Amino acid sequence: MTLPAALRPLLETTLGPGGVIAVPAALEPYERDETPGLAAAPDLVVLPRTAAEVAAVLRLATEHRFPVVPRGAGTGMSGGSVPVRGGLVLSFERMNRILEIDEPNRMAVVEPGVITGDLQAEVASRGLFYPPDPASHQFCTLGGNIAECAGGLRAVKYGVTRDYVLGLEVVLPTGEIIETGSRTLKNVAGYDLTRLIVGSEGTLGVVTRIILRLLPQPESVRTLQALFSDIRTAARAVSRIASGRILPRALELIDSGAIRAVESFLKQDVSGGAGAMIITEVDGPATATSGEIETLAEVCREAGAVSVKLARDKDEQDRIWKFRRSISPALYTIKPRKINEDIVVPPARVPDIIAEVQEIAKRHGLLIVCFGHAGDGNIHTNIMLEESERPRAELAVQEIFAAVLRMQGSISGEHGIGTSKAAYLRLEVGAQALEAMKRIKLALDPNNILNPGKIFLSAE
Ligand code: MLT
Ligand code: ZN
Repeated sequence: MTLPAALRPLLETTLGPGGVIAVPAALEPYERDETPGLAAAPDLVVLPRTAAEVAAVLRLATEHRFPVVPRGAGTGMSGGSVPVRGGLVLSFERMNRILEIDEPNRMAVVEPGVITGDLQAEVASRGLFYPPDPASHQFCTLGGNIAECAGGLRAVKYGVTRDYVLGLEVVLPTGEIIETGSRTLKNVAGYDLTRLIVGSEGTLGVVTRIILRLLPQPESVRTLQALFSDIRTAARAVSRIASGRILPRALELIDSGAIRAVESFLKQDVSGGAGAMIITEVDGPATATSGEIETLAEVCREAGAVSVKLARDKDEQDRIWKFRRSISPALYTIKPRKINEDIVVPPARVPDIIAEVQEIAKRHGLLIVCFGHAGDGNIHTNIMLEESERPRAELAVQEIFAAVLRMQGSISGEHGIGTSKAAYLRLEVGAQALEAMKRIKLALDPNNILNPGKIFLSAE
C-alpha cells in the first residue's frame, strides 16, 4: 500500500514536531518484530502523544482506507506489530509515562509505551508487585503485553496480563474514544470490553491508557535450579511439583538443546553436560518459603535430579533467571532459523507432549528444542532449521498442533495468532467460533483498517 502523498502534511500537522517518521532508513526498525523471517515496510510511522491524536489518525485512516498497525517495542513473536499490508505504524514511544501509582487501592495507571520492567521496578520500590513477567520484561511494553495478553514466568501462580487489567481507555478503529472497566476490583456493568480488547492483538481498538491491579510485594522469594540426565525425567518432576500442595510462582523446564545454546551464548558451563534443567521459585512469608523450597528440592531429588542448587542470595537468583531469559536469543547459535511455537496443554500432560514432540522430531529428522513455562503447561517448541529443512518443519508443526489439540490444549499460550498461526486457528476454535470472532471484528472495525491481515487468513 502506498499512502496518498497529501496525507503526510496532514499527519504532520496532527501529530506536531517529531510526530511522523518518513525517512526510509528510519522506518527500517519498524518492519519487523521478533518473529523469525517476517518483515514488511510501513509507509510512515507516527508517534502520538495523546488519545485525541490517535483518534485523529484513525479517523483519517477510516476516511482514506489505509492500514494502521499499533506497535509497542516489537518483541512479539507472531507478527502482531508487523505492517504486512503497509500503511501507518502507530508507535507508543512518546506515550510512555507511569501516570499514577495509587498505593491505597493498589493500582497503577499507565500509558501503553511504559516498559514492563520499569513498572515492576517502580512499584517494587513502594512495596508493591506487578506479577506478569514476560521473558522480555526489560524491553517489552505494557501496551504490547495487553495486545497479546502476555504470560511469562510467573503465570503458574499469578495468571497472565488479563488478570491484572481493570480498565482501559481505547480508541476504536472509527475514532471514538471509550473507557472500559473501572478503578474497582469488581465490575459487571455490561459486556466485559476490557477482556475483549486484552489479547485482541491490536485488531479491535488502540489502547491509550491502562488501569492495572497491583499486589503487595511478597516478603521473600526462594529459587532453585535442578539438573536431570534427560528431559523425560525432568518433565515427570515438573508434574509432581505441579500436582503437589506447594504452588510455586515459577516452574520452568529447559531441555539439553536450550541449555547448550545458552552455555555457549553466555560462555559458561553451568550444567556439567546435564540433559535437562528445572528452575522453580516460591514466594511468600520467609517462614513459609524456606520450608517450601526445601520440599521442592526433595521432590526433584526423589524424581531423579542429579543435582539441586538453592540460590543463596539475590545475585544467585538473578544469575539463574538471566540463564533462563537468554534462551530465546541464544537459540540462534545452534542454527540460523527457528520456528518458535508456544503450545499449551493441561499441566499434567507436559510429559506426554514432550514425548510426542520428541517422536515428531525423530520422525522428521529435525532438532526441536523445548523449554518454557511447564508449570502452567506452556512449552516453547523451537524447530531449529536450515532453510532446506522448512517443508519437513512445517509438517512437524502440523503434527505438534494436532497432538496439542488431542490433549485439549491450545496452539498459543501467550504469543498470539498474528500471521504465523492464522492458518491453524480454525483447527482449534472451529468454524462457528471463528465466524463469531470475525463478526466482532467487523462490528468494531467495519473498514478493516486496524492491523489487517492478523488472526484471520486473508482468504477466509
Ligand atoms: C520465553 O518464554 O522465553 C518467551 O516467550 C520467548 C520465546 O518463546 O522464545
Ligand atoms: Zn514464554
